[in-house]
Amino acid sequence: MTAGKRPLAVVVLAAGAGTRMKSALPKVLHPVAGRPMINHVLAVAESLGPAKIVTVVAPGMEAVAAAVAPHPVAVQSQPLGTAHAVLAAREALAPELAAGADVLVLYGDGPLITPETLSRMLEARAGEAPPALVWLGVQLSDPTGYGRLILDKDGALARIVEERDATEKERAVDLIWGGLLAGEGKLLFKLAAAVDNKNAKGEYYLTSLVRLGNAALARSAVVECGFEEVLGVNSRSELAEAEAHLQQRLRRRAMADGASLIAPETVTLSWDTVIGRDVTIEPYVIFGPGVEVEEGAVIHGFSHLADVRIGREATVGPFARVRGGASLGEGVRVGNFVELKAVQMGDGAKAAHLAYLGDATVGAEANIGAGTITANYNGVYKSRTEIAAGASTGSNSVLIAPMTLGEGAIVGAGSVMSTDVPADAIATTRAPLDIRTDKAARYRARLKETKPS
Ligand code: UD1
Ligand code: CA
Repeated sequence: MTAGKRPLAVVVLAAGAGTRMKSALPKVLHPVAGRPMINHVLAVAESLGPAKIVTVVAPGMEAVAAAVAPHPVAVQSQPLGTAHAVLAAREALAPELAAGADVLVLYGDGPLITPETLSRMLEARAGEAPPALVWLGVQLSDPTGYGRLILDKDGALARIVEERDATEKERAVDLIWGGLLAGEGKLLFKLAAAVDNKNAKGEYYLTSLVRLGNAALARSAVVECGFEEVLGVNSRSELAEAEAHLQQRLRRRAMADGASLIAPETVTLSWDTVIGRDVTIEPYVIFGPGVEVEEGAVIHGFSHLADVRIGREATVGPFARVRGGASLGEGVRVGNFVELKAVQMGDGAKAAHLAYLGDATVGAEANIGAGTITANYNGVYKSRTEIAAGASTGSNSVLIAPMTLGEGAIVGAGSVMSTDVPADAIATTRAPLDIRTDKAARYRARLKETKPS
């Protein structure tokens, strides 16, 4: 990633209340693709290798400060406008500004911006006699609500006018400001300090920097990108829109990396999902955070995975749930209606149907019968179950943790195990078998006689 020759400092604006989200959670903490949107923005900023990233928050936004840590925050005391918000970061950026850093202004509620576009903005600042300020422009068929980029007759950016302050002719301009700005740091802050609030909204507009810059012979330029990248999330509908765009990017990346998604639009991925080559993902699979799927594995439909590593050639599902720090070895088979929580399964182990395994290790080539349950919770705390290599459990067996099933040992169907089973043993707990021949018909007849009327 080219970040220009000068050092770089990034300001992320996140002081907005986000009233339209109708949420107790600050807007920028709402997750898209499994992580808060502010963290998407920070990850993109980090990829540029900046000297510092400062997030501007409103008073009381401790949760946002925690989410951006170890990056610092600056507090904007009152929401007086975007220029005022940027100024709140001045003190925190003093060393970088003194070192001649460029400053990049991003919005915390714009999780779709890409490093490529930001690099293009910074590259526009890298040439000889570069523009002092670079604004990210977007061509829109319906520019309603956005600041319009007004060019002079030579095609240079003359000013940006907000919708409310625009004339009818200016409103017809379809090139808008997407809200991102790169510029020479010291100058940017100097101009921001000179902004006034004489406009329809009575706010200190960052967009005023174009006019103030031009008056000081500090030229502005425009770099364009598509609308998707500057989509700002102000409502739950826009949150869903941002999610849809991110999901599409993630699916495309998975397919480009060599995975087959049979119905990609039905698969939900997380920002950090890692999928190897020749993995097949059937329809309606949900990946929570922390999933890695190795080469050649197959995830059958309607499975829900989170925080798990799935080994090469393993098969999971349909209708499997795997979570909580699980790890499946090579060729493991986890079938329908199996739930695994914090389970390590060795190579070739199988749990083909209807089981719950929690806080357990399952050795290589072990076989877990249908209906096997590890009773890992006594109502107060959890305990572990260790199932050694080659062991097998019969259908409907209960393993009461803590316990160990030795190597190659067998638990008979329907058994309840409350103690360790040594290697190579066969263990069963069963009520005695009782078959009374020729008794059923007589028994039914008697029931009919004694039936209460
Ligand atoms: C702003 C731009 C507009 C641009 C649009 C792109 C100005 C004056 N207008 O309009 O030209 O087309 O973005 O989306 O800049 N914020 C603060 N503190 C404040 C005010 C805002 O941190 O005092 C933050 C908000 O949380 C938000 C961002 O800055 O993330 C933009 O503010 P908002 O008031 O939504 O600006 P727009 O009206 O959308
Ligand atoms: Ca906005």
